[in-house]
Amino acid sequence: MKITEIHPGIHYVGVDDRTTVRFEALWPLPCGVSYNSYLVVDEQVALIDTVEERFGGQLFGHIRETLADRRIDYLIVNHMEPDHSSSIEALRRLYPDMRIVGNAKTLAMIEGFYGIREGLVEVKEGDTLRLGAHRSLRFHMIPMVHWPETMATYCPETQTLFPGDAFGTFGTLDGGVTDAQLPFDRYRDEMRRYYACIVGKYGTPVQQALRKLAPLAIGTLCPTHGPVWQREIPRVLDLYDRMSRYEGEPGTVIAYGSMYGNTAQMAGRIARSLAETGQRNIFVYDLSTADTSTVLRDVFRYDTLVVGSPTYNGELFPEVQQLLDKLANRCIPHRRFACFGSFCWAGAAVRKMTEFAARTKWEVIGRPVEMKQGFGPACYEACDELARQLAQSR
Ligand SMILES: Cc1cc2nc3c(=O)[nH]c(=O)nc-3n(C[C@H](O)[C@H](O)[C@H](O)COP(=O)(O)O)c2cc1C
Ligand SMILES: [Fe+2]
Ligand SMILES: [Fe+2]
Repeated sequence: MKITEIHPGIHYVGVDDRTTVRFEALWPLPCGVSYNSYLVVDEQVALIDTVEERFGGQLFGHIRETLADRRIDYLIVNHMEPDHSSSIEALRRLYPDMRIVGNAKTLAMIEGFYGIREGLVEVKEGDTLRLGAHRSLRFHMIPMVHWPETMATYCPETQTLFPGDAFGTFGTLDGGVTDAQLPFDRYRDEMRRYYACIVGKYGTPVQQALRKLAPLAIGTLCPTHGPVWQREIPRVLDLYDRMSRYEGEPGTVIAYGSMYGNTAQMAGRIARSLAETGQRNIFVYDLSTADTSTVLRDVFRYDTLVVGSPTYNGELFPEVQQLLDKLANRCIPHRRFACFGSFCWAGAAVRKMTEFAARTKWEVIGRPVEMKQGFGPACYEACDELARQLAQSR
């Protein structure tokens, strides 16, 4: 059996993208990304999701390799984001009799995106599509993970779940397909980064989806990005549960902006003092050079965020403001928060960061350090005191 045949009759036909620089034109892809697509073959044949349009030719090649001259009877559309749906039109031209299966919201989007009105099959929660004596597909709605039409497709005979983007990660499938054939450690951090960037706002719907899918016996998880999960399913489900509850493990992200190095010195001093108290898992990021997706990943992972900013034209330093906007958009309900800032003639940064903490209802630890003009002994002492308060409040 080829390693692309995950179970008898279930084939991986997805593609690797090592050329796109930023996913959604935003998030860097140092390890690439895969767009996963699967064939379920019985008396009838279903394809589950497609791939980004530019890779459609490769997908169709993989399908032909698997099916030879057989037709595809159904395309199951779990998710309409174009990284999975933009090959639908071309696929329809190759398989004109193929019926397209989705829920009411999906079918409306298929018409809106691609003008397709014919050959559509609407399914509802719990509906089953029988492909033959040995394989059937059941549909479960998991709205807002991370679009409104999202659904998961379950094959009970093989205990395989196709959950769309849920449980997906950045990172191409280098040779292997399942987690037994690929290094889990490489994908775990990429799963966190994918989650923080793409799904992070939707913790509540993810929790609802986890509860809905919990009764299913799942031996194989086939997401639309990254490895097919089998032996790592317990760790993957646990990670998703913790991320969607916005659980933070002990650790401190110190993220700052700095034009001339004064605020940077404060950041370095706080980090060193914190380490002196015995605290570990301290990560310091200059927001002008750090990758935002990595910072978001770590803010999702750790329980404490310390932000530093100079005052810039009466506002926060722009890169700091952008980070806070992205954090606010993700509705993280709780974090331990502290801040520090600097100014020359009329400070605004510390006030703005304190207002941010009040809006997010995060717990503010210690007294914000506000420095005027130069980084002197009084400021060292205030940074050390803030670090002590951060350590003692644990
Ligand atoms: C473009 C620019 C705009 C600034 N705007 C303000 C301001 O509105 N109010 C203020 O008190 N200081 C302002 N400053 C001064 C900086 O906030 C101050 O020098 C700060 O300590 C710089 O921190 P850094 O060394 O980390 O870049 C501005 C500085 C620059 C370069
Ligand atoms: Fe998506
Ligand atoms: Fe996706």
